[in-house]
Amino acid sequence: MKHYLSINDIDSLPSWVDEAITLKKNPYQFQYLGEQKTICLLFFNNSLRTRLSTQKAAMYLGMEVMVMNFGSEGWALEYEDGTIMNQGTSEHIKEAAQVVSQFCDVVAIRAFAKLEDKTKDEAEEVLTGFAKHASIPIVNMESSVAHPLQALADAITLSEHKTKSKPKVVLSWAPHPKALPHAVANSFVEMMKKQDAEFVITHPKGYELNPEITKGFQIEYDQETALKNADFVYVKNWSGYMNYGEVLHQDTSWMMTQKKLDAAKFMHCLPVRRNVVVEDAVLDGHQSLVVEQANNRTFSALIVLKKILEVL
Ligand code: CP
Repeated sequence: MKHYLSINDIDSLPSWVDEAITLKKNPYQFQYLGEQKTICLLFFNNSLRTRLSTQKAAMYLGMEVMVMNFGSEGWALEYEDGTIMNQGTSEHIKEAAQVVSQFCDVVAIRAFAKLEDKTKDEAEEVLTGFAKHASIPIVNMESSVAHPLQALADAITLSEHKTKSKPKVVLSWAPHPKALPHAVANSFVEMMKKQDAEFVITHPKGYELNPEITKGFQIEYDQETALKNADFVYVKNWSGYMNYGEVLHQDTSWMMTQKKLDAAKFMHCLPVRRNVVVEDAVLDGHQSLVVEQANNRTFSALIVLKKILEVL
């Protein structure tokens, strides 16, 4: 595998999940693969889990790790071809990507959607700019439209906790005071296309995700109906897609509660706002998988980096 940009770069999700679960027992098994190899982690946005888990995975594989908060410490990048750079940008992606390629063997990038211009966000200028101009493999640590390391960790978590061959999984929108991107929800939906499960998406009218991504899945506007007999409930806020980047409303009745969760397992990518997105009783209860999901971020990164190093 050259790049890991999307969950669709996985050739066989079940075999990657099985291998990741096996690697948890002996994570240093392939330490030789990354000897004398360097990964550079470039963050245009904040992170806790992605930063530490990707670093930990690289360490398990024997890699050297360099981390840069590009968003606050790097030069403002230009992405347009042929631009007269007499405004705010200082360095073109063409040079930046080639220069980064001299210092490391793999580069991982986090660059969120700005939620101002849908076309620009969907063009993924940071990720595709690096993919076009760098000469090394690129790993997506959450871009404008996708968070494939999170979705792979979620697939590992589902596999570890399912008690039937075809569980019911519900993706439920939740209220949030800020406009959040669609990346986590998008990649979770894409990942569910590769699962043998009954999958239902529930959100208030107006919060439809990109219909190209949700095509073929059931959308249920009544949360109570959607949650009936659920085995897993994945809760996530996202802003409007049609009304791009807008917080249409913060209907508090969509917050996840223990009563609504019933017997289902609770999932969320974190960070999460307590008693806004989900009530304390859920997060503090034994049905919450959020910490295990975060732990599995290490093993999703481990399997991705292993696949890249094997063909480097
Ligand atoms: N879930 C996730 O990506 O967490 P961070 O934003 O803290 O990296």
